[in-house]
Amino acid sequence: MVLFRRLLMLMLTVAASSSLLAEDGYELWMRYRLLPKSKRVAISQIVCPNPTDRHLKEAHSELKTGLEAMLGYSAKVGEKLTKQDGLVIGTALSNKLIAGLNVDLQPFNDEAFVYLPTTINGKRVHVITGQDQIGVMYGAFWFLRQLQIGKPLPNKRYYSAPRYKLRMLNHWDNLNRSVERGYAGQSIWDWHKLPDYVDPRIIDYARANASIGINGTVLTNVNANAMVLRADYIQKTKAVADTLRPYGIKVYLTARFSAPIELGGLKTADPLDPQVQQWWKDKVAEIYREIHDFGGFVVKANSEGQPGPQNYGRSHAEGANMIADALALEGGILMWRAFVYDDKTPVDRAAQAYNEFKPLDGKFRSNVIVQVKNGPIDFQPREPFSPLFGALDKTPALMEVQATKEYLGFATHLAYLGTMWQEALASATRLRGKEKVLDTLTGIAGVSNIGSDRNWCGSHFDQANWYALGRLAWEPTLGAEKVADEWARLTFGTAVAKPVVSMMIRSREAVVDYTGPLGLTHLMATGHHYGPGPWVDNLGRADWNPVYFHRGDRDGIGFDRVGAGTLKQYAPGWREIWGKPETTPENLLLWFHHVPWSYRLPSGKTVWEEMVARYTQGVSEVATMRAEWAKLKGKTDAFRHFQISEFLEIQEKEAKWWRDASIAYWQSLNGLPLPKGFEPPEYTLDYYKSISNPYAPGNTHTG
Ligand code: GCU
Repeated sequence: MVLFRRLLMLMLTVAASSSLLAEDGYELWMRYRLLPKSKRVAISQIVCPNPTDRHLKEAHSELKTGLEAMLGYSAKVGEKLTKQDGLVIGTALSNKLIAGLNVDLQPFNDEAFVYLPTTINGKRVHVITGQDQIGVMYGAFWFLRQLQIGKPLPNKRYYSAPRYKLRMLNHWDNLNRSVERGYAGQSIWDWHKLPDYVDPRIIDYARANASIGINGTVLTNVNANAMVLRADYIQKTKAVADTLRPYGIKVYLTARFSAPIELGGLKTADPLDPQVQQWWKDKVAEIYREIHDFGGFVVKANSEGQPGPQNYGRSHAEGANMIADALALEGGILMWRAFVYDDKTPVDRAAQAYNEFKPLDGKFRSNVIVQVKNGPIDFQPREPFSPLFGALDKTPALMEVQATKEYLGFATHLAYLGTMWQEALASATRLRGKEKVLDTLTGIAGVSNIGSDRNWCGSHFDQANWYALGRLAWEPTLGAEKVADEWARLTFGTAVAKPVVSMMIRSREAVVDYTGPLGLTHLMATGHHYGPGPWVDNLGRADWNPVYFHRGDRDGIGFDRVGAGTLKQYAPGWREIWGKPETTPENLLLWFHHVPWSYRLPSGKTVWEEMVARYTQGVSEVATMRAEWAKLKGKTDAFRHFQISEFLEIQEKEAKWWRDASIAYWQSLNGLPLPKGFEPPEYTLDYYKSISNPYAPGNTHTG
């Protein structure tokens, strides 16, 4: 059987690399396959008078390639409309035909686009326009997407504008090309060969991002290396910036707070020291001399061993403002991370970001944006939204989500994160109030899941998380299901979209169930975070140990965040709902409360019975996904089908590992028998504890 599989894998790999028709995932959601006859629109001509202008060039060339592949013929390209039908693109300034139409471009947004089906001189045309050429480019990608999705084009003016100015990817990539929490190979930034050689793959990266509206990318890890600010590395960054610019993507870097010492030879990095201030001003000016539209910096300070202003007795605001002042001179912004916690503070870790940043609200310069993780702890499979959203009245906030699945099964587990992000974005900041978390944001940043793997993300389904990041940052109310449907149609074709979407929509909850049901959190193994480790209690810092988070013992389980005072950080409505176990939704019960194992849920089951049921449900959900995927054999291309089948098999095995190891551990605490009808763990707790995976990927965090 194993041999047969290997053989099949080999055959498929050869097919993927040798045949143009075989799919290996490289094309992402931009596959541009020939459309069925009934779906082909008539476009005999593309009219774009300035096809070499910035952004128009990219729009034009993408349309040409995409349409040719999807329609099966090449449209004529020219400045005049001579055929009976065509596509007319450009701004009113760049295209006289468009100027003549007086297209309504309101509401004003320089990245917006308008699509207009109309007639010009009796000829049927599709017009794509915008205030600025960047809007035209977004419109071009939208148009191609609509055709691929197979749904009819709008029959009247259609307007689309991004909700947020900042739609960011955050690479956690190191200069040696390792990627912190990266499960898709090496970093796509080949610092060694840059600036002389820029891998053409970077253009495809830019196209993919532009197609979903991402307009900023932070090239380096938040656990930063000061060297990226050295003159030769600025040249390397410039080469990347020059490649991404035509696609409307700005480049940002992470700035190490101690860089003035490490690079500048100063004795201190104290933000109030004039020499330090001058160092940052000079450094920023040096960057802007090379990269005129450099975006700015992201800073992780005084967190997990990173240097910061508190090393000098200064506040986060004092540290941020000093760097922000240097950036402001050039029009740059500073994204200052709120992911801070300290084991010397005797306060619930979930409460610490709010405690630190809420008092600083109003003290930041206007070009500082506080970057807040979606949940108060750390990208766990389920957390409530961070109480900082809606609490910072005078400081702009960016929501940071993690597309790379550090806590949701790395690349091998299917977990579509659109549903998870939607949960946070759509939460009301005040229960029954109108304001949602998404209303409080200036943008969304996603920790990238992109690497050098041929399929970019380590697995085909993980591409959906990159896609969802861009789409939700463009419009956070789109809905996870709609986004999944688009992606599935684009990636696997319209015929299989329905079953694929159904798997995706249930997938995150399955991971929650088999890793940490009922609001349990942070139960993973040490360091690499691969697999279960709820028993871990030996780490240097209390707040790194899973036992700190679950508080399980003989009598009960869960973290009492009412007693800890953390709940007070949320608005009153939430305080009432989450204040008592009876009114707390089951999926956050053990997040907010410590309850006895025998605590009865509305279903009549005890917490223990429900936990076992959910762990088991998580595993069987994966088995169901596997069976559903198996049915699509022959309906999707063989290579991707095969790889996904194999990954789902891994996921089922590992879901069972999570379930069994967790149940064995909980039983060692509570001594309770398994509820009737449930299988006991396959192995002993000692066996699960003995499993070690020193080389699990992504563990480059040394701070
Ligand atoms: C998590 C992750 C680290 C990362 C940190 C951060 O703790 O495990 O690798 O550095 O988040 O967001 O800064």
